[in-house]
Amino acid sequence: MQNFILHTPTKILFGKGQIAELGKQIPADARILITYGGGSVKKNGVLDQVYSALVGRNVQEFCGIEPNPTYETLMKAVELVREEKIDFLLAVGGGSVVDGTKFIAAAANYTADRDPWHILKTVGSKVTEAVPMGCVLTLPATGSESNSGAVITRASSGDKQHFFSAHVQPLFAVLDPVVTYSLPPRQIANGVVDAFVHTLEQYLTYPVDAKVQDRFAEGLLLTLLEDGPRALAEPENYAVRANVMWSATMALNGLIGAGVPQDWATHMLGHELTAMHGLDHAQTLAIVLPALLVEKKAQKREKLLQYAERVWGLREGSEENRIDGAIAATRTFFEKMGVPTRLSDYQLDGSSIPALIDKLHQHGMTALGEHQDINLEVSQRIYQAAR
Ligand code: NZQ
Ligand code: ZN
Repeated sequence: MQNFILHTPTKILFGKGQIAELGKQIPADARILITYGGGSVKKNGVLDQVYSALVGRNVQEFCGIEPNPTYETLMKAVELVREEKIDFLLAVGGGSVVDGTKFIAAAANYTADRDPWHILKTVGSKVTEAVPMGCVLTLPATGSESNSGAVITRASSGDKQHFFSAHVQPLFAVLDPVVTYSLPPRQIANGVVDAFVHTLEQYLTYPVDAKVQDRFAEGLLLTLLEDGPRALAEPENYAVRANVMWSATMALNGLIGAGVPQDWATHMLGHELTAMHGLDHAQTLAIVLPALLVEKKAQKREKLLQYAERVWGLREGSEENRIDGAIAATRTFFEKMGVPTRLSDYQLDGSSIPALIDKLHQHGMTALGEHQDINLEVSQRIYQAAR
């Protein structure tokens, strides 16, 4: 096992009715800004629950944070935060609202002479402070509710980039599985696929004898395999929704990634697909991951065999057959969830691959994977294989 420091300071309020506890989590005299997306939280009553929990408090709101939140929209909220001297942000929504709010939190105090876009990692400037924030999560998927990362898109230039800062880690996250009943099937599926891929990107690398992390990861994968399809079939099954929700949080809160090598290449190649073609985040992962696993079979051999055996029960046949079987089963699982796995399924013929490679280059994504050996040439082969 590799050395690690693990600090997961987000307080989790999990379960039915927990939104009512919100008020106690936010300082009594705070000037609160509630942020949300396109209105799903109005339709399903979540916003009403939030207001009920904050009766008598100083509350304003900012709506319209879109999926794959844009810098352009978020900067309007930054102005509001500055004008209204907001000192607490409450994100109510999916990963995009939580990520967008993290950017607002970091940009609000970013000095006026610096462009807040520089907060984004590869442009590279450090966040030294942020407005404190908490969240009410409505879509289990990204893990953003209890991690320090965010992914932001600049629509004007077609860039989708991420940043990390301990200053934007939510102080608390309310996870009530009931609020996920209203998710459309496409978003249920996206969430399950995203959490599955997060787990694999911290698991399918090379062995470092990290038994706890491996078995936690396998537990998450098995739970998502079991309850992902059930969430589609039985949308109001509380136990199923609870297991999916907790799996997604645990998949990216730092726990399974501590002390093990990680491979975020699928995400980096996926972000370019979203930025250029508007595909949902999870759709891009379902396209890239199977192709990447085939390309990196040799480097990931031992963990692929472990995955084949412990997650898919593949114990018979040659090693090559078991590895191919596990990759094929992964693809079939995504398809079964309703997330197609080829570029052609999204009417993309591969002609944009050179442009995608240019964007990876611009973003400094030239040495990806657990061995930093996924250079632009390898990325190109992965995109080609994903057609
Ligand atoms: O905008 P509203 O009206 O709220 O509708 C949303 C949106 O249209 C809807 N939705 C959310 N909760 C709902 C609901 N509809 C009905 N009932 C509910 N309970 O779902 C749609 C998608 O929402 P979004 O927040 O975009 O989805 P997701 O949670 O998958 O977030 C995706 C974003 O997170 C980033 C992605 O790149 C993408 O930008 N990621 C963030 C990560 C992180 N911070 O750690 C890691 C991830 O790998 C990912 O990259
Ligand atoms: Zn993801």
